[in-house]
Order: sequence, then structure tokens, then C-alpha cells
Amino acid sequence: MLGRSLADRYPAMARVTTYKIRRMKSKGKKIVMLTAYDTPSAQILSECGVDMILVGDSVGNSLLGYESTIPVTLDDVIHHCAAVARAKTKSLIIGDMPFMSYKVSAEQALQNCGRMLQEGGAEAVKIEGGGNVVDIISAVVDAGIPVMGHIGLTPQSIYELGGYRVQGRTADSAEVLVEQAKRIEAAGAFSLVIELVPTETAKAITEAINIPTIGIGAGPHCDGQVLVLWDMLGLFEDFAPKFLKKYANIRQVISDAVKQYAKEVRDGEFPNDSHSFEMAEEESGRLYGRSKPNEP
Ligand code: KIV
Repeated sequence: MLGRSLADRYPAMARVTTYKIRRMKSKGKKIVMLTAYDTPSAQILSECGVDMILVGDSVGNSLLGYESTIPVTLDDVIHHCAAVARAKTKSLIIGDMPFMSYKVSAEQALQNCGRMLQEGGAEAVKIEGGGNVVDIISAVVDAGIPVMGHIGLTPQSIYELGGYRVQGRTADSAEVLVEQAKRIEAAGAFSLVIELVPTETAKAITEAINIPTIGIGAGPHCDGQVLVLWDMLGLFEDFAPKFLKKYANIRQVISDAVKQYAKEVRDGEFPNDSHSFEMAEEESGRLYGRSKPNEP
């Protein structure tokens, strides 16, 4: 046992927890978060040391063919969250509460956030909204469920916000966001996503609260960053907002591989002997009639 760390002896201790995430802000360590919706992606993210995996309602736009996150259901997110949980990650797993799954009442929120942990295997939930969700966050945290807040552009409210627009562009609207962030912290949230706001606004929020801020389209001063996995891998040619850096062109990789496969099938090059199984010579002879099968 000598020389082995506690984390080696007790693998559960190596896992990222909400406590560790909060400590990262006080230690000045940047937090890395990405979305995932399936087991192999979650395994890769965990192996790469990603701190938090968000099973976002962005699964609707990324994988389910919806134009917004509004049609995504609680069952959809739970289904994908359970797949991510089966990856047995070191990363902290957060289940995103979809449209209308938590705003009806505190009871509704408690029941549905509970399902996200019990059925989805999440270790925390994310709840979108400002002052309107503070009481709900407080009730959920009181029930022992860690909550990540989400302010700025909240995609579940695009109709009310008038589209995917940068929020907090004026000093007054930035101050409103700072106040929302303080109330969400006071309600007990362990971290806060800030989406699509000017760098200055995100900096003011980050400096005003003690819980870590995780930015997307919110500049470099947040305590951590999040991107949607399939956006940063370059799956979508036509989705290129200013804040998105594409780290790969996975669409090209998939397209090249599929074209090559189709060509080889059509040319009779695939499969060849190395991809095929053989009968024993005697059986092959019997099959093709060179010797008669033994009669009983
Ligand atoms: O659903 C999602 O992926 C999100 C992130 C963009 C923060 O909410």
C-alpha cells in the first residue's frame, strides 16, 4: 500500500465532485466541460481529463434533428444521460433539465431532478433561468441534488428573448445578470453557465460570485469553458457562430471513410480474404460436390 495515493486505493475518490469543482475556482484552475450524449464519447472525454460532462438538451439540435431544444423531453435526456453514466467516467456528470420539466412547481422540479439522478445516473442537474428559477434551485439543492445554473442566453426561452442574441450588452442589462448570478449562488448552486454575453459582462459576473462560472460565447474570464462536443468536432458545416472554435473536421473524416467504403464495395475490393471466414477444406469439398457427404 505504501506509495499509493488515496485515489489509487479508493477509485471513487479519483472522480471529479462538485466539491472539487468549487475548489478549482479558489485555486485559480480553469475548468473544462464538454457535452456528451453516448457511452463511447463519454469514455473518451473522461480519458482526456475533461472535468465535467454535460448531457445537454443540445442533444436535440446535435443528434435528434430538432431546430431548437424546445421539443427535447425529460425522457430523451434521461436516456442519453444513462448512456453517459454507463461509461463510468471520472468526469462529473450533469443532466440538463429540459423545457418545462422544472418550472411548473417546486414539486415538479424535485420529482424530475430526482429522476435525472435515479434513472439517468447524473450527479448534478443544470437548470436554465434567472430570478424566476431561484426558488426552484433552492428547493432542489435542499433535497440534496447539486444544481448548476445557466444565465445569459437561455435557449429554452428563445421565443421570449427574440432569437439567439447576445445578452447583457448594456451596463444595465449586465447588472441584471450580475444580480441573477448572486441570487443563484445564494440559492445554493455549485456553478453557473453563462451563455452568449460580452466578455466584460462575464468578467463582472465571475468576479461578483464565489462559485465557478462556465462560459460559452462569454469570453476568456470565466472560471471554465463549455462547448457542444459535435460542434467543436466540426460535424456541422453550416453552424459556425463567432464563439465556436472547430478543433476537427469530423464531417470530412466520416464523409471520406463512407465514400471509400462505398467505392470498395462497388469495385468488389471489400471484403477480401482478410475480412472473411473459411470452411475446412473437407467441408468446402462436400459443399461444392467434389465428395459425397457420409451417409449414416
Ligand atoms: O444543452 C447544452 O449543451 C447547454 C450548453 C450549451 C451549456 O446548455
